[in-house]
Amino acid sequence: MSLITKIGSIDIRNPLILASGVMGTSYSTLQRIYNGGVGAVVTKSIGLNSRKGNPNPSVFALNEIRSAINSVGLANPGYQVFREDVEILVKNHVPTIVSIFGENENEFSEILNGLKDFPVLAFELNLSCPNTEKGGIQIGTDSEAVFQIVKRLKSETEVPLWVKLTPNVSDVIEIAEAAVNGGCDALVAINTLKAMVIDIHTKQPILGFKKGGLSGAAIKPIGVRYIYDLYERFEDRIPLIGAGGIMSGEDVIEYLLAGASAVQIGTALGVAYPENMIKFFISKIKKYMRENEFKSISEITGGAH
Ligand code: DHB
Repeated sequence: MSLITKIGSIDIRNPLILASGVMGTSYSTLQRIYNGGVGAVVTKSIGLNSRKGNPNPSVFALNEIRSAINSVGLANPGYQVFREDVEILVKNHVPTIVSIFGENENEFSEILNGLKDFPVLAFELNLSCPNTEKGGIQIGTDSEAVFQIVKRLKSETEVPLWVKLTPNVSDVIEIAEAAVNGGCDALVAINTLKAMVIDIHTKQPILGFKKGGLSGAAIKPIGVRYIYDLYERFEDRIPLIGAGGIMSGEDVIEYLLAGASAVQIGTALGVAYPENMIKFFISKIKKYMRENEFKSISEITGGAH
């Protein structure tokens, strides 16, 4: 039995990938999660310039539904400063996917060109942040813009490009088709859902930015549905990476059966020792594979269709 997972031209040691956002952009935290056992790590999204992000509180745990809401606001050091971290990650052989965001095609291009000399595993285009006025969801809900950006960036690098889709659209297939037609190498679904929480005592929204993005167990069935729909549309023409509410090894299997080749884990890592959680996930996946006589992850992918 092998956990080695293929995502297009890339092989990783198992199907668990650290999702963007949860562990920042510093090499030390990303390296720690890789040492903890995941197959690869995605950085918090990197932009053109440094950004402080939105006012606190910008993350709020919704423990009763094993979920979280955030409005971090794309806080990051900017790509030039980030180059120091990515250099160490690459030197230490940490399979790294760099998430990038921009307000428009030219910004995406400048960031990509500033980082593309590092042998990273892939770039993940964050076309789906709910917490910014420009870029983010505004781009990710516009299929023509998605097509143009992917096509342009594809012409500028050999490094695989993944596109992270927003669930905040009425037709995800239309946006996914635009990304695939633009030449992307994998689709990641889903990013957070637009949401908010209000404190009934202060009678005010809890987040400093008032509104945010929902992650965690509450969104898992939505993510599974998106992956299922995308697999129905594309089958094995494009690798799918499942994300959204994966809190257990069983949740990983569910996403694989829906059609994912690999998965990203985010909110779950914030509620326990990441190392323990990753080990626990892996042992559950192995047990399931033994019991169901699966020899490889790819045999599970799409099994629910
Ligand atoms: C942020 C970015 C995201 O892509 C997301 O889904 C949620 C929050 C942010 O930085 O605010």
